[in-house]
Amino acid sequence: MSKVAVIGSGNVGATTVQRLAELNIADIVMLDIVEGMPQGKALDILQAAPLIGYDVDVIGTNDYADISDSDVVVVTAGIARKPGMERDDLLATNIKITQQVCENIEKYAPDAIIITVTNPLDIITYAALRCTQSDRNRVFGMSGLLDSGRFASFIAQEINCSVKDINAMVLGGHGDSMVPLPGHTTVSGIPLTSLMDEDAINRIIKRTVNAGAEIVGHLKTGSAFYAPSAAIACMTEAILKDTKRIVPASVQLDGEYGLKDICLGVPVKLGKKGAEEIIELELSSQEMAALERSANAVKEGIAKIRP
Ligand code: LAC
Repeated sequence: MSKVAVIGSGNVGATTVQRLAELNIADIVMLDIVEGMPQGKALDILQAAPLIGYDVDVIGTNDYADISDSDVVVVTAGIARKPGMERDDLLATNIKITQQVCENIEKYAPDAIIITVTNPLDIITYAALRCTQSDRNRVFGMSGLLDSGRFASFIAQEINCSVKDINAMVLGGHGDSMVPLPGHTTVSGIPLTSLMDEDAINRIIKRTVNAGAEIVGHLKTGSAFYAPSAAIACMTEAILKDTKRIVPASVQLDGEYGLKDICLGVPVKLGKKGAEEIIELELSSQEMAALERSANAVKEGIAKIRP
């Protein structure tokens, strides 16, 4: 049986554990520094097993030794946004947490693929990559799949079609500069641009960019977790089953898209070695300019964490 460790037992962490358990693909360890919380939530999820029909181990712990031999480690630890905050406002606190988490992963699970989730996502991913001194295929961030899921769900509502038929693509940083790509989004193979007019597409792009903040505005005390955990579960499954799914994820670029020394959302192929390949889409000059603007915004954040 494969093994997945989820660091953080807040809403994103615990919901991820639930989704992974229900996929029935790996034993799961949920770790938090808060005593009792991972143990309590893990027990609760374990006790649902006979009712739902999964058959995996789920344990909660405060001890990093328990993550040893994990195939994948998902890092959700960190503070979340409150209304009015941007993802970048979380940087100072979450960077320290990420460094501690990465040191422990290197000590106890040095071979695990690492999926970062903590915000500000692209900067945290860059920091995790530096901290673990890993190759880029091993450490990458979940964001584009979430943003694409949001884009797809809004498109389905707008044109009143099944969300299953939508293949949406969002590139760039996980922030206000993200780049939803209507020109690379299709509905059963039909280009989105031939099904929706420009005004409607622009309205939906704006809602996609603000989708996380829209939820924070409703919740007031935290941020989204159902869709984020769904995206994490999809990525973890693709890695464990070596399916080679192509999804957008935040990965270090090394000349692709004309960018380097940055983690940014682009399509990657997921398999047992992690982000095994970066796919370079052909972008129009307008799309490329938007991606460059997004890269500049992420680079400003990265500059803040350079020693
Ligand atoms: C969001 C946060 C989790 O996009 O980044 O909802």
